[in-house]
Amino acid sequence: MSIDLVGVDHRLRTYESILGLLPDADNPTPLVRLHHTGFEHARIYAKLEWYNPFGAVKDRVAANLVADAEDRGEDLQNLVEPTSGNTGIGLAMVANARGYGFSATLSRAIPLEKRTALRLFGTDLIELDDALCPMPGQPEGAMAKAEELAARPGWRELNQYANPANPEAHYRTTGPEIWRQTEGRVTHFVAALGTCGTITGTGRFLKEQNPKVQVIGVHPTDGHDIPGVRSRRALALTEFFTPDAYDAILEVTDDDAYGLCRTLHQRESIVAGPSCGLALAGALRAVPDEPGVIAVVVFPDNAYKYLSSFRRHLPDLFPPEQPAAPANPFASHLEAAFALAKQGPDVIDVAEAKRLLDAGVTLVDVRNADEVARVQIPQAVKLPLPELSAGRTTGLPADRSTPVVTVCAAGTRSLYALLLLKAQGYADVKSVDGGMGAWVSAGLPTG
Ligand SMILES: Cc1ncc(COP(=O)(O)O)c(C=O)c1O
Repeated sequence: MSIDLVGVDHRLRTYESILGLLPDADNPTPLVRLHHTGFEHARIYAKLEWYNPFGAVKDRVAANLVADAEDRGEDLQNLVEPTSGNTGIGLAMVANARGYGFSATLSRAIPLEKRTALRLFGTDLIELDDALCPMPGQPEGAMAKAEELAARPGWRELNQYANPANPEAHYRTTGPEIWRQTEGRVTHFVAALGTCGTITGTGRFLKEQNPKVQVIGVHPTDGHDIPGVRSRRALALTEFFTPDAYDAILEVTDDDAYGLCRTLHQRESIVAGPSCGLALAGALRAVPDEPGVIAVVVFPDNAYKYLSSFRRHLPDLFPPEQPAAPANPFASHLEAAFALAKQGPDVIDVAEAKRLLDAGVTLVDVRNADEVARVQIPQAVKLPLPELSAGRTTGLPADRSTPVVTVCAAGTRSLYALLLLKAQGYADVKSVDGGMGAWVSAGLPTG
């Protein structure tokens, strides 16, 4: 079963559909040799899964979950899935390409970058207070919520945690790719553990080719901060976690995982995400440095979705944010000048303003153009406060001893205008108390 790959030409890398980019043995994600492993003999290769069309190892799974359900003739109009992000992103994009709706239930602890990406890609997000990776059996959690939604007519949860199409995606693609890319010489396969789809499907394929291939799983500690993977306690609740089928299982701390990412970025020039560091840290402990050893480590996705996580874990790389510019020490004096002016003799009521207007005094309306468009005094000169602040006096009398009256919506901006005009030498300035609000309430004429 597979997504129908119309118009695929891997030789030219010209595709009629984005789904044609999905990897398989003829179009594998790259294997890149690492050079700063400290090993003399063993060769370590990273399998760069961000070369999948939507940026992560989970694109394989998302495509196969959908293809499998399509092959069964299922109604996929409203898909829902509990996801830590990458399966969600893959499903969102496969669903978009196939014209299906997609909702994701997920923890608010998932990095903002991933949640933003999901929204950007059209997913309906249901955010909950749950662990970083959804845990079964949590009544308020992402898994329970997805199940609840999936029970509605016309809704379908593909359930990556228990659907054999998850490991099968790796059995059909990741495993054969690695076998071919190493020309059958791979000796160790290392994967970080989340749903365990990667290790289960790839491990099974590789062991079928050569039972001597060592399959190694790596997981984080309890309370970790590495999205996409699960601690040993959480793995125990996961359907595809079959420790007896693995040759080794290692636990890696956040510090070791993020620390190794720094080496990957700065020495290997590989834009690795946190779970790459986790998997590699496990590999460097478990793989023997012996001639003939060829280890392949899956690098699930790249760093860009986790920049906020990197800031937390590598604080020495990020100098503290520049403190905000110091407050103006004279601001309180400006406030005092405003308060005094408000109590002073230059604040006039609307009746006095109307009398002065009728006597030919210049009235300056300092509101914005859109406020003026709603209601205005037609004779008023229109000069918004920002213009006055910039020193412009267009339309005002050239003789600064001529009286001027300022007006705004309620009487605050007109008082600042008064101060600005006085500062520029206008000797006789008045501000209309209550502004246009009071003018209109008093039934005075407007245009
Ligand atoms: C970033 C990341 N690393 C590792 C994994 C683990 O892969 P698997 O679920 O196949 O065990 C995932 C799975 O979601 C992931 O998103």
